[in-house]
Amino acid sequence: MKRFVDLADFEREEVLSLLELARRLEKQPEPRALAGRILALLFLNPSLRTLASFQAAMARLGGNSFVINPGRGSWQLETRPGVVMDGAAAEHVREGIPALASYCDALGIRAFAEGKDLASDLAETTFNAMASLTEKPLINLESALNHPCQALADWKTLDDLAVPRAGRFVLSWAWHPRPLPLAVPAAALHMAALRGMEVIVLRPEGFALPPVVMERARQAAARSGGSVRESAEREEALDGADVLYVKEWAATERYGDAEADARLRSALRGWCVRNDWFTRAAPECRLMHCLPVRRNSAIADEALDSARSVVQREAANRLPVQMAVLHQMLRS
Ligand code: CP
Repeated sequence: MKRFVDLADFEREEVLSLLELARRLEKQPEPRALAGRILALLFLNPSLRTLASFQAAMARLGGNSFVINPGRGSWQLETRPGVVMDGAAAEHVREGIPALASYCDALGIRAFAEGKDLASDLAETTFNAMASLTEKPLINLESALNHPCQALADWKTLDDLAVPRAGRFVLSWAWHPRPLPLAVPAAALHMAALRGMEVIVLRPEGFALPPVVMERARQAAARSGGSVRESAEREEALDGADVLYVKEWAATERYGDAEADARLRSALRGWCVRNDWFTRAAPECRLMHCLPVRRNSAIADEALDSARSVVQREAANRLPVQMAVLHQMLRS
């Protein structure tokens, strides 16, 4: 594997094989598998899980890693093409990324959405521009529209918990004080569709995921025996649900317009998940969220601390699935 940037680049069978490798590495550690290998981790945005789990994954496989946080101990990096660099950034990614790549065997990049121009974010303009600067194996640590490592960990979590392949997976919008990127909802949607689930995107008016994201998921579902639809009706969507996957995201119909987004979401404080959301769900319905989550804004304490919450298992699963990705990518 040369690049792990989008789960949609892989057939279902290839994902299943990665998950099998993750389970094998959990049971049979290979502490020398990546001896002498180096992973560079470039974070243009903050992280807890991705940063720590990738460093831990390399260490558990006998390799090494180094982290660059531009502007905090290393030069501020400019990503925009053609700008006059008279601001805070002292270095452009066009020089910075090839330099970093020359020190490592694989590179991971986190570059969130700009959140201004939907077409540009849908085209992964920033991430793709950086990806084009190196031929080294590359891992997407979360881009404008994707978070494949989170999606792979979530798939493993569903398998660990024996959630039925054809079970009902409800991806629900939740309230947040600010518009957040589409990366996790788009990745979770695609993951559940490719797994073959009955997927419902539950969201208020104005927050529909972009048609291109929905269409791509529908095509994945069609290949895997699943389905994808949308709803704004909570009770109907959650009726018999096996999974409620919660995520906050921006108002796509007013993308980049912070004031309009704020006006739309001001009436939606009720989209904070509480235990009564599960009244009509399957008895074993699981509550998922990629983290970080704002308690009592997106999910109430009573739900997040309940037995149905599997958020810590999702976080823990980042380690074995990323070990599997690194193993496939770097084991010679
Ligand atoms: N879920 C996730 O990617 O967490 P971090 O942002 O902390 O890495």
